[in-house]
Amino acid sequence: MSVSVASPFDLHDRVVVVTGGAGQLGRAFTKALMAAGARIAVIDRAPVEESEGVLGFACDITDRQALEEALGLMEDRWGTPFGLVNAAALDSPPDSPPEENGPFETYPEASFDKIMGVNVKGTLLCCQVFGGAMAAKGGGSIVNIASIYGMVSPDQSLYQYRRDRGEVFFKPVAYATSKSALYNLTRYLAAYWGGRGVRVNTLTLGGVYNNQDPAFLERYNAKVPLGRMADANEYNGVVQFLLSDAASYVTGSNVVVDGGFTAL
Ligand SMILES: NC(=O)c1ccc[n+]([C@@H]2O[C@H](COP(=O)([O-])OP(=O)(O)OC[C@H]3O[C@@H](n4cnc5c(N)ncnc54)[C@H](O)[C@@H]3O)[C@@H](O)[C@H]2O)c1
Repeated sequence: MSVSVASPFDLHDRVVVVTGGAGQLGRAFTKALMAAGARIAVIDRAPVEESEGVLGFACDITDRQALEEALGLMEDRWGTPFGLVNAAALDSPPDSPPEENGPFETYPEASFDKIMGVNVKGTLLCCQVFGGAMAAKGGGSIVNIASIYGMVSPDQSLYQYRRDRGEVFFKPVAYATSKSALYNLTRYLAAYWGGRGVRVNTLTLGGVYNNQDPAFLERYNAKVPLGRMADANEYNGVVQFLLSDAASYVTGSNVVVDGGFTAL
């Protein structure tokens, strides 16, 4: 007689909302969570490739009404979501306008508002809309994606090679500030929803390899005990874990996956 024992990491029958699911990591999460049995509702401003098991919702996470409409549509189709991975975020890309990468003293207010609006308020709105539905239903798991740059300061010496080339370049303040705000959003909600079975955790990630400048890579890699940036697929397992029953006693925590960057 064979006895089937379901894996505690299994996500069959779970609907998971992945914000930023059209991005580099969001795409990796979507594929991996689907492979673990979940159905995925992607929320992104950018176009989403739909397939069996993946529904795309073109919404801006700062638009609460659009999020509510998306929730209504996914509930009609699949029922209330069990999981929410808050991965949508804005950073100042390395080629953004010079004032965004200039000195702290003149960092533009409008850029600060925009990045805080998406990374903090947008994440909060997704927690209100999707997390609120999970709490009403009696269970779920939220993973807020943060960054080593929200846990420790960006190390401006990593960008010295740009200044040596004559550019004015400092890693700006807004992204770092916005990502650190997620730690207490997570703790607040873990406490607030603990009694209703919704677990809420922060997942702090190190940098992902994406064809960065070799001068940057050399400096960054020298700061990481594992000696390299992450591959985009190396965070999938921990996201699956946090959404699964294997993490049934994990809430309010900050899980750090950074190759050891913040251990030094
Ligand atoms: N890539 C890294 O090195 C790294 C390191 C640490 C943490 N992170 C975090 O991981 C998460 C995913 O990063 P990524 O590298 O995949 O970024 P990405 O830029 O490739 O993807 C982000 C996605 O979010 C979407 N988005 C942005 N603003 C939005 C809005 N207002 N409404 C809806 N969608 C919006 C974008 O369209 C994009 O598809 C982010 O939270 C990021 O801060 C990334």
